[in-house]
Amino acid sequence: MVERTLPAPLGIVPGSPGVQFVGFAIRPGAGSAGGSPPPSGGYVERLNLNREWQTRKEQATARGVGVLAQAFAARAQNAEIWDVEGRRYIDFAGGIGVLNTGHRHPKVIAAVEAQLARFTHTCWQVMPYPGYVELAEKLNRLTPGAFDKKTIFLSTGAEAVENAIKIARIATGRSGVIAFSGAFHGRTMMAMALTGKVAPYKAGFGPFPPEIYHTPFPIELHGTSVDDAIVGIERLFKSDIDPARVAAIVIEPVQGEGGFYVAPPELLRRLRALCDQHRILLIADEIQSGFARTGRWFAMQHAGVDPDIIVTAKSLAGGFPLSAVTGRADLMDAAAPGGLGGTYAGNPVSIAAALAVIDVIENEKLVDRANVVGDAIRRTLEAARDNAPQIAEVRGLGAMMGVEFVDPASAVPDPAFTKRVQAHAFDAGLLLLTCGVHFNVIRFLMPLTIEDAVLNEALDILRRSLAAAAA
Ligand SMILES: Cc1ncc(COP(=O)(O)O)c(C=O)c1O
Repeated sequence: MVERTLPAPLGIVPGSPGVQFVGFAIRPGAGSAGGSPPPSGGYVERLNLNREWQTRKEQATARGVGVLAQAFAARAQNAEIWDVEGRRYIDFAGGIGVLNTGHRHPKVIAAVEAQLARFTHTCWQVMPYPGYVELAEKLNRLTPGAFDKKTIFLSTGAEAVENAIKIARIATGRSGVIAFSGAFHGRTMMAMALTGKVAPYKAGFGPFPPEIYHTPFPIELHGTSVDDAIVGIERLFKSDIDPARVAAIVIEPVQGEGGFYVAPPELLRRLRALCDQHRILLIADEIQSGFARTGRWFAMQHAGVDPDIIVTAKSLAGGFPLSAVTGRADLMDAAAPGGLGGTYAGNPVSIAAALAVIDVIENEKLVDRANVVGDAIRRTLEAARDNAPQIAEVRGLGAMMGVEFVDPASAVPDPAFTKRVQAHAFDAGLLLLTCGVHFNVIRFLMPLTIEDAVLNEALDILRRSLAAAAA
């Protein structure tokens, strides 16, 4: 095992989901048990390469893109990553929720290689290809709602959110949009405006598009109820915007970046009723919660509430850039030809990957596997409470689990403790992501395909990291 201590933190400003800090010196170095690395393909791994790349990174790239690790990836397989110095990490971040089917799933790679041999780009808007249609049909079938649906493809999550709002506006002829405090919908202008967290996502980047309103997200732990959330919307209707001018309410059924708070089914049902009453569209942002992560194909299915439009991305294409907007067919057809799309939107290589991802989720029963993995995390965290009284709540749906830390004496959020757990885990070779408005939640986004032995090894590191942080 190679061990080394990198220099003191760089002081990078909080930056991206799960990358809110770089506040520890990284001393990576898990052992090599639990899996054989993929061939390095002649790539030379040697000491001090991370340090060299870090120096070049600082000189060549902007700090506004916050980066968690000061170790550079060389190769990865399923739930493991090896850095340029040959050190192994167990990946509980999954590229921020992108790798429900793991790194380089053989079936995804085979589908991509086959597509690479055919063509890589025509632009769907110039010459279409069957895979786009086939994937649209699958999403129309798999997403919640037994009504006619249509789908368009984009490249990123934020782009899908932007397009969902465009579609909602043109379909309703209304302009207002309501989102939730603590929400994260992306970094483009509209997605950023909808995001309900100022630092680091919005501070200094305004002005934002008008007619965006926020209402409290119900979090019982912090004293906000479903009633409070609904009262918040009704207050908006009285004081800020006529409901007849609201095009859509946008919600993550499990808040991701905001802290892995599950929207209570009662909230989703009451939103549905409110939307029906005022002819407002309900948009579900399942970019992080979709594709088996929560123990259903989509998190909305837990509440039995059908959104009018659902946006997906991340694990849709197993590591290739692809996002989708799926919705009621009449809404999706509201925009005239040319109003939607993009040069790379629905890239054929990503589409091939996504078709394989859907087969893998079905064939390997990853919906069920999410519940097994989630139970293992829950049990580990609940058992760790004795040693780590900072654990305020263990929560989640399926394998979309989070653990929130507070100071046991004051019950105040404890981001310092959260950082310590993350740092200890990193030291031992486990990649963990944080989240939450107060940066005091650790979220778990490991591949659902993770081998039992690797999962157990990681949970053991997690146990030890919690104890070490509490000591
Ligand atoms: C719920 C949610 N919506 C939107 C986005 C934005 O996706 P992207 O980063 O691909 O633009 C994210 C990304 O973390 C997300 O978690």
